[in-house]
Amino acid sequence: MTRTAVVTPSSFALILSALLISVIAFGCTETRDIRDWRPDDHQQPEGGEIDPSRVPDSDGPPGTDEERAVTALWTVSCASCHGRTGRGDGPGQPPGAQVRDLTNAEWQASVTDEEIAQVITGGRGLMPRFDDRINPRGIEGLVRLIRALRAE
Ligand code: HEC
Repeated sequence: MTRTAVVTPSSFALILSALLISVIAFGCTETRDIRDWRPDDHQQPEGGEIDPSRVPDSDGPPGTDEERAVTALWTVSCASCHGRTGRGDGPGQPPGAQVRDLTNAEWQASVTDEEIAQVITGGRGLMPRFDDRINPRGIEGLVRLIRALRAE
């Protein structure tokens, strides 16, 4: 066995550190224009002009403030049983609950907005009532949100 042909872990480490040293010694000769941070680096650009490359695509879920509030209401009050996307797969369902898929187009077509609102306000079976916690505007918003869950 020729010893030179064998790369042992320790000789590998040696080669690696030799490489690293040469990178450190010879690779970092480039000088860059580094200057101190100035407060106007973080100021609004002159004349209200905004560099589009610095604007994030979105600042949260799409929609109006009201839609976002209703989505938050759904997440807090309903998603534990109905699932975030309404498919009936929430982790907090009471034992024995039959929570249907609210995205189902057939179910969607079979109920009116009033019936949906009625279940939310008054409850039914293992579905709790919410009229003591959510005002009529919130209930209306939730009906709209459920309608928007409809799958094709
Ligand atoms: C504790 C679990 C739980 C929570 C929380 C909950 N639901 Fe339900 N929901 C159920 C169950 C169980 C049913 C089925 C009731 C039945 O018919 O037996 C149901 C049924 C419904 C239905 C009617 C579906 C149908 O079969 O016609 C709607 C609409 C609904 N829920 C909306 C909501 C909304 C909106 C919220 C939040 C404000 C909510 N639910 C919160 C458990 C829950």
